[in-house]
Amino acid sequence: MTLLDMLPSIGRAAPRRLDPAIWPVTTHSDDGGRLCVGDVPLVDIADEFHTPTYVIDEADFRQRARRYRKALRGVEVVYAGKSLLTTAVAQWAREEGLGVDVCSSGELAVALAGGVDPSRIVMHGNAKSPDELRDATRVGVGRIVLDSCIETAYLAGLARRRQPVLVRVTPDIDIHGHRAVTTGISDQKFGFTLEGDQAAEAVKRVLAHPILDLVGLHCHIGSQVTDAALYGEAIHRMIAAMADIRAQHGIILTELNIGGGHAIPYRPGDPEFDVDGLARVIEDAVDEACAAEHFPRPTIVVEPGRAISGRAGVTLYRVCSIKTQPGGRTFVAVDGGMSDNPRVSLYGAQYMVALANRHAVGLKQRVTIAGRHCEAGDEIARDVELPTDLHPGDLLAVACTGAYHHSMASNYNMVCRPPLVAVKDGRARELIRRETIADLLARDCGVGQS
Ligand code: LLP
Repeated sequence: MTLLDMLPSIGRAAPRRLDPAIWPVTTHSDDGGRLCVGDVPLVDIADEFHTPTYVIDEADFRQRARRYRKALRGVEVVYAGKSLLTTAVAQWAREEGLGVDVCSSGELAVALAGGVDPSRIVMHGNAKSPDELRDATRVGVGRIVLDSCIETAYLAGLARRRQPVLVRVTPDIDIHGHRAVTTGISDQKFGFTLEGDQAAEAVKRVLAHPILDLVGLHCHIGSQVTDAALYGEAIHRMIAAMADIRAQHGIILTELNIGGGHAIPYRPGDPEFDVDGLARVIEDAVDEACAAEHFPRPTIVVEPGRAISGRAGVTLYRVCSIKTQPGGRTFVAVDGGMSDNPRVSLYGAQYMVALANRHAVGLKQRVTIAGRHCEAGDEIARDVELPTDLHPGDLLAVACTGAYHHSMASNYNMVCRPPLVAVKDGRARELIRRETIADLLARDCGVGQS
């Protein structure tokens, strides 16, 4: 008999502190201390679908999508599918009035299968193949964002009807983020620089092909941007560029896509991007820049991904073993790792972890959550406080794993990728099933004849 069996009120007396800025909106802990999302105990999901499993809170995703629409009236919101995309997720985005941005034929096919109107799809990519361009123009995607001159030539040759396009430019704005996600500066692979005559030359080439309908410009300054004012600066520079294009070519571009990259907090105290603040910044910057250039107001488009899908997701792992190295750390090894969450080793990302199957009472210890892969750097989180009585079989939930987890998962060590389970109103529904060893072997062409 445990202390909790004798004193069941302990759990209620000491409610869990789960920061609502980080965990899905429907997260709560039930009387048994079990963590629930979408009114489903996470331990039930682990029992049914096993671990590791990605769980996604439909209400959280939809609520954040709605929040964008409400705050950014008059601005078109396009959900960045690269953060998380399945047919059901595409359907949620569509039902909430969002377009979808895709960057491969795979993402395009999923968005279409999710019922997204092709005219609400924006196609991205710095190295789109002719086949991808053909797929995109054939189904009639609303916008193709051009990122190189050769792609402009390919698309002009492939298109069978007039294709609306944007030209991606780099406004040279440094978000001072991680090198891997700083995309608005000149010295990186995306877009054409405003500086020099790169962007002007790209525009000239697009205009030389009447089958391409140049409607506007695009920029994406990076990820985990916390300061909305940086988008104001981007708008100023982009509208000045649009005014230059008018002066040079006599055309008025009507659309300005300022990309995504809105930060979410992963741990308590991390700054949160202010969507209402962004609405004000956009309003003011567009007013000022258009007045300064005597330029008609373009339609503004934003492309948030993580800010809509990130907090909706949690990942469930079972504790496999616990080991304290002499003079070193205590390692809690779980049944997933860098194959389902590469963000820790790629960007040094930090996460919150909670015990999900029971009350976390008693003394706490500071541990490292280690993955199952054959690399010392395979960690999920460091310096996490978990109960000293943690044992193999316990269930852990990691917060903020909705964005860039399922979409970045790999088969490292031939580990099968986890399922994605949506929860809503007490029901759990598999959106993506777990990969099987049969799936892995199905792609292996065999030993052949020597
Ligand atoms: N639009 C464009 C053109 C983009 O390249 C991206 C992200 C987005 C929108 C959406 O950005 P978001 O709002 O989700 O930050 N794997 C990295 C993130 C790479 C983002 C690449 N582009 C990570 O896990 O942090």
